[in-house]
Amino acid sequence: MCGIIGYIGQKKATPILIQGLRHLEYRGYDSAGLAVREDGKIKCVKEVGRIDNLANKLKQSDLEGTIGIAHTRWATHGGVTQKNTHPHFSCDKKIHLVHNGIIENYKEIKNSLPGHKFVSETDSEVLAHLIEKEYKNNGNLRIAVEKALSQVRGTYGIAVIAEDEPQKIITARLGSPIVIGIGENEYFIASDTTPILPYTKKIVFLDDGEIAEITKDNIQIFNIKDEEIKKPIEKIQWDNKSTGKQGFAHYMLKEIYDQPSVFEDAIRGRIKLEEGTAILGGINMDNYQMRHIDRVIFIACGTAFHAGLVGKYIFEKLVNIPTEANIASEYRYSNPTIGENTLVFAVSQSGETIDTLAAIREAKQKGAFVRGIINVVGSTIARETDGGTYIHAGPELAVASTKAYTNMIAVMILYALQFGRLRKLTVIQGQEIIKALQNIPAQMETILKQSDKIKNISEKYKNFKNFFFLGRGLNYPVALEGSLKLKEITYIHSEAYPGGEMKHGPISLISENFPIISPITKNDLYEKMKSNLEEAKARKSPILAIATEADESIKDLADDIIYVPQTLNILEPLLNTIPLQLFAYHMAVTLGRDVDKPRNLAKSVTVE
Ligand code: G6P
Repeated sequence: MCGIIGYIGQKKATPILIQGLRHLEYRGYDSAGLAVREDGKIKCVKEVGRIDNLANKLKQSDLEGTIGIAHTRWATHGGVTQKNTHPHFSCDKKIHLVHNGIIENYKEIKNSLPGHKFVSETDSEVLAHLIEKEYKNNGNLRIAVEKALSQVRGTYGIAVIAEDEPQKIITARLGSPIVIGIGENEYFIASDTTPILPYTKKIVFLDDGEIAEITKDNIQIFNIKDEEIKKPIEKIQWDNKSTGKQGFAHYMLKEIYDQPSVFEDAIRGRIKLEEGTAILGGINMDNYQMRHIDRVIFIACGTAFHAGLVGKYIFEKLVNIPTEANIASEYRYSNPTIGENTLVFAVSQSGETIDTLAAIREAKQKGAFVRGIINVVGSTIARETDGGTYIHAGPELAVASTKAYTNMIAVMILYALQFGRLRKLTVIQGQEIIKALQNIPAQMETILKQSDKIKNISEKYKNFKNFFFLGRGLNYPVALEGSLKLKEITYIHSEAYPGGEMKHGPISLISENFPIISPITKNDLYEKMKSNLEEAKARKSPILAIATEADESIKDLADDIIYVPQTLNILEPLLNTIPLQLFAYHMAVTLGRDVDKPRNLAKSVTVE
């Protein structure tokens, strides 16, 4: 969703801001703009559509200034227009700001500012006017911002510049992240670390209620009580290389191909073959506490929820604890019952998804142990949980999540080993799982080698308007994820069902125009799934099967087959999902879709 980048230093701000906006594109946006201080004035340029449109417009106005703020907007309040694009400004245009989040009481604020001239339909613009009013009263930008923010209900991450306080950026957060990068006589302000990492790895994370006053050689941070505080400078490890496309046509394809190597990163140093277990120190619980956990809940959204569903099956099989996977946006309002031995895992790539964050706050309030399974280091959820594990997938920039999903599952399997070995799982069973885990990267490679074949299959299916994804057992969440990938990036309608459920309604839709894609690998439910596909075949549905290598009998049933190597049943989602990722990818390319930035979607959903 919306992204912020700001710069203050000795270099020209505009190229840094434009580059920063490009790094923020992955979050999803529909317009972009920037404001730079130039010859004593703030100059603001905005454009709807891609960053390239803004960059082209900027060619006509060579901005030399060394202080600026910029924003990618994902429309919430008001349409996709130039006027609604950030930065927003005060009546006298002396104060400019960019804002992420939502000002819930913006109408009340607007009504309390008679005489002010509003030009946009956004909630954000009222903040610029409120700051203007406060600034006129006290003449100090930071205090004016503080006073304005104290009247706001909602969430914000903001960066503000003012003509009358030329060498300064004020930034603040409440519920919407702000990170500050520290360079040599320069600072970067952003909504996540991605646009900052090419310049510096030294990062300060603002917490809710904090406000920072930044000049080119100094930073002061104040807490909610207006006391100056010292914050730790954290060193971020991700290298710049991992943020490039590295020769792939799209980030999504690169990230699909990253899976074997980042999977190794997820399990490296965390398994103990001899004892048939895993050690994830971040769980922050002793063996006694772990043995007494009597309920596990995975809370997540989107793809992370599908990984959570896989986690549920795995935990129930290996650990024998009642386990649920819950959609965060539902869970947060469900008044959940939580016992003193309930363990909640927040699962999130970005670590910023607002629903997941709200849900774990609710769980924490009610006494659960709350731990994170997170990708982005230092993200809000990672910091609000009392422990957990980073999945080490590296930056994931395509909106459609791929490698984060497999690495979330990898970490869930490691947790299941760790908890399982404290309960019923034997050392031999644990070792068998570890050995199979160690084979996964090579097995993933054999699937990736079939990319061209999958591309040819996608050509055959590209004109269908509807798809069913059917799976049973652990292949049900795989079907859900395959279906989500397809609809996200191709805009084709698809639904996923457990195979056995099809005859309770959905079968009425089946026809020769309604293909079925089915992960049907050799496991306990193979024969059952086959019967479900027979029912579909009898109604002439074209069938694409994801089947286990050397399964000859599937040829009688399926029109097309993508083979995957055999592994343990509980590890199948790690392999079976990859052909579905590739299928969705090739379909999207064939149909000419914007694969990495599909319409209407955002990578990190920071509003409800
Ligand atoms: C958005 C993204 C999805 C993602 C979901 C959860 O909807 O488009 O790809 O799965 O958010 O995001 P998270 O960062 O919490 O894993």
